[in-house]
Amino acid sequence: MRLRRVIWKLLIFITVSLVLLFIFLNNNEKSENYSDDFITILRNTKEDTTASEEEHKPPLQLINNFDDARQVTSRPLLNLTQFEYLIDNDLCERFKKELTAIIIVTSYVGHDELRAAHRQAISQTKLAEMGMQRVFLLASIPLREHFITQSQIFNEQQRFGDLLQGNFKEAYRNLSYKHVMGLEWAAQRCERAKFIIKIDDDIIYDVFHLKRYLDSLELENLELTKSNEMLCGYVLDDKPVIRNQANKWYVRPDEYHFNNFPSYLSGWLYVTNPRTALRLVNQAYNSPIFWIDDTWITGILREPLKIPLQRLNSWFSANPDFLSCCVRDLKKPIAMECEFYVGPNGGESKLLIEFLHNVEKCYYDECLKRSKEQSLKNTCVGAFKHILPDHGNAEVKMVAMGR
Ligand SMILES: *[C@@H]1O[C@H](CO)[C@@H](O)[C@H](O)[C@H]1NC(C)=O
Ligand SMILES: *[C@@H]1O[C@H](CO)[C@@H](O)[C@H](O)[C@H]1NC(C)=O
Repeated sequence: MRLRRVIWKLLIFITVSLVLLFIFLNNNEKSENYSDDFITILRNTKEDTTASEEEHKPPLQLINNFDDARQVTSRPLLNLTQFEYLIDNDLCERFKKELTAIIIVTSYVGHDELRAAHRQAISQTKLAEMGMQRVFLLASIPLREHFITQSQIFNEQQRFGDLLQGNFKEAYRNLSYKHVMGLEWAAQRCERAKFIIKIDDDIIYDVFHLKRYLDSLELENLELTKSNEMLCGYVLDDKPVIRNQANKWYVRPDEYHFNNFPSYLSGWLYVTNPRTALRLVNQAYNSPIFWIDDTWITGILREPLKIPLQRLNSWFSANPDFLSCCVRDLKKPIAMECEFYVGPNGGESKLLIEFLHNVEKCYYDECLKRSKEQSLKNTCVGAFKHILPDHGNAEVKMVAMGR
């Protein structure tokens, strides 16, 4: 009898202990989930849910959602079977107004200063007022990079929410992956955006002019803007393939065997739309990969699709001095319009800030037109160099000049 009672007590004790242990472990797991930023960010970005929604869900559902999300995000990118977003982004889905354009900015992961300049030049809020949004396209941190860590990047995403990061390594030979990642994301996740504007992070661009151009294009050529063959930018015709091995643009014959490239758009800035981007992306999945991204996507992939290129060549200056001179002239008591809307920053990350802060007034009729004598060619410190837009990307320069 006594033995039986002891066994009973022991059993009850063990059961109670087990229940307590279970509750404790469960709680612990939960607090781990929500206290660790790293995990929270990964979860958020993969599941398209906000943290507050997540907290109300029972754990089982969390697991289910996670699996569903994985099926979407673990689709390969071209031949990268292990592709995943380190940071996904649902900013278009969350955007409640009509979305005129999504701006995708290829940005080397270590260029946090340049991204800060873009945000300071025009904030996401102000872009939103213009019906636009911006996202920076990043890859993962390469081994040689010692100035930035992934947790800094997660932090940047938490503060600004404007990053999209793939898990492939930053390298100029990986730019085609980044470019396709951006187009695919924009075409699928920003489907209702009327336009996609692709730029590099070291480019100065007049976003007010772009907005005006796109609005007027819709009025004057609605057919083009709604079509699946819209590509506008700086057209490079018949560029010879570089076969000099010392040149950083050297292309081996087995990579591309013709002597000239088909016409393509400079990757500095071009405009397309989701329908066109989707065709280019599909073509990319069915073609050998070529590492010069703008040439490949807007030239080699475009050609068989017979998508015509719309020339905006007069917008572009390849001379960074011109845009500095524009800023100088825009700051004068009687401001003068700039002749160009797109150009390189010449290594000055803050030039974009000055340019955008000073050029806006021209859209309220507060700037003078330039006469011939006042053209930048005539007035810009005689520094006119004949450089034409070409492939160019911050990342490329970073690698090439070891900056
Ligand atoms: C491109 O990314 C892949 C995947 O991360 C990596 O294995 C490869 O080394 C990168 N390419 C270069 C040239 O670094
Ligand atoms: C993907 O294709 C490129 C170009 O053909 C090749 O160099 C690379 O090794 C391939 N990468 C993978 C992961 O298969």
